Amino acid sequence: MSFDLVLFGGTGDLAWRKLMPALFQAWRHCKLPAEGRILAVARDERSDDQYRAFIKEKFAEVEAPKRPTDEEFARFAQLIHYSRMDLAQPEHYASLKQWIDARGADCTVFFLATSPHLFTQICEQLGRAGLNAPNVRVVLEKPLGHDLASAQEINRVVRASFTESQALRIDHYLGKPAVQNLTALRFGNALFEPLWRRESIANIQITIAEELGVGTRGDFYDRTGALRDMVQNHALQLLTIIAMEPPANGDAAAIRDEKLKVLKSLRPFSADSVGRDVVRGQYRGGTVGGGAVPGYLEELKVPADSMTETFVALRTEVQNWRWAGVPFYLRTGKRLGARDAQIVVNFRPVPHPIFAGTTRANKLVIKLQPEDGLELHLLAAKGGGNNEQLSPVKLNLDFDEAFAADRVGAYEKLLLDALAGRLNLFVRSDEQEEAWRWVEPVLEAWRNDTAGPRPYSAGSWGPPASSALIARDGFAWDEES
Ligand code: BG6
Repeated sequence: MSFDLVLFGGTGDLAWRKLMPALFQAWRHCKLPAEGRILAVARDERSDDQYRAFIKEKFAEVEAPKRPTDEEFARFAQLIHYSRMDLAQPEHYASLKQWIDARGADCTVFFLATSPHLFTQICEQLGRAGLNAPNVRVVLEKPLGHDLASAQEINRVVRASFTESQALRIDHYLGKPAVQNLTALRFGNALFEPLWRRESIANIQITIAEELGVGTRGDFYDRTGALRDMVQNHALQLLTIIAMEPPANGDAAAIRDEKLKVLKSLRPFSADSVGRDVVRGQYRGGTVGGGAVPGYLEELKVPADSMTETFVALRTEVQNWRWAGVPFYLRTGKRLGARDAQIVVNFRPVPHPIFAGTTRANKLVIKLQPEDGLELHLLAAKGGGNNEQLSPVKLNLDFDEAFAADRVGAYEKLLLDALAGRLNLFVRSDEQEEAWRWVEPVLEAWRNDTAGPRPYSAGSWGPPASSALIARDGFAWDEES
């Protein structure tokens, strides 16, 4: 299958930090279809060779095993071309069309790795230039809008030029092998399904913790905050996969329909419930990984009086027969105690204890990163005689070890899916809008709340109010229990 992949924003961070390394890995693994051309597009004048030299230099910042040798790069670089474009000029899209039509590849993918405020302009111009034939797909990077209205506007413009199945919205968490394993755990194995419901499960905790601060992205982050940056997309996508009903088949439509139902079943927030069930925080200086780090307000390009949240913890429920009354706790933040993304499914305790001492309920820990695996926590008897207290033991599955050679990074997976037209791991517009609809009352309540985010020390697990939120139900975050 021949393809043309056009990267708008070809000199930007995303292009050289994530996309080119992912394309190189796909090429190295012989997964990139053979007859391919990659055209990077940006504002400044460069030749193909100058752009290739720029990308080669940037590979120095990629982790060592993923860097090409000189010989590999020389071969990979044959696929790469460069073109200067002024995104406002229709003639530049006409020239692009000529370049594409001259070869007539089987498919063309436009990857919009630009600032999101250019998405509507690019999609409109692509449509007007006739660059929207059925064999064309357009990939949109997050953030897709700032709120429901702006997301709807982007979707309206995209829809005017492309059908829903031509528009691929990326949430890179869906490309992570660990997240695909979550789907496999639930729908490729019968073991847990009878237990996957309110009768057996006490609560579910989804944590995406980062050690990093906002780095050099202070201006972007300050306009965004953790709710828009991580909860509206990554955390909610994880929740949908955990809570969805088994789809009728593995098709994108069947899977996305079930995910949408979960989003529609989430308990809506009101001004009152935001005060009670959502905690926002902002990091102060502290210690992370043994080194002192500054607070959010001291970060580059962050206003000294910023009220932007760098931490969110919240409690919600999925209001349907399977999940009624089971709390789902979501938590994410920057400058937390560890880089750690995991989902903890806490089962109910035994109904009638017969062993001495306190008993712990079973739990399943789905580890997403840095490790990718599963831990099933059980109780066992050591065989120590009468009145023995049971001891905690765990079954531990390490997918990184089990599947090391076959692992494919998130962007590699998603780029290959985009080229092949596999839509399962992309977010449909109605899912994305529903997620915005759900977070809007939180944004609204915060706009009217002058108290601002609660401070927490860098290197901690967020403000104490986050522990209080979950303790109110008689539970504790996993690291506190
Ligand atoms: C991005 C956010 O979507 O995800 C970043 O914009 C965040 O702020 C990143 O750091 C986390 O991704 P990962 O794959 O490192 O967990």
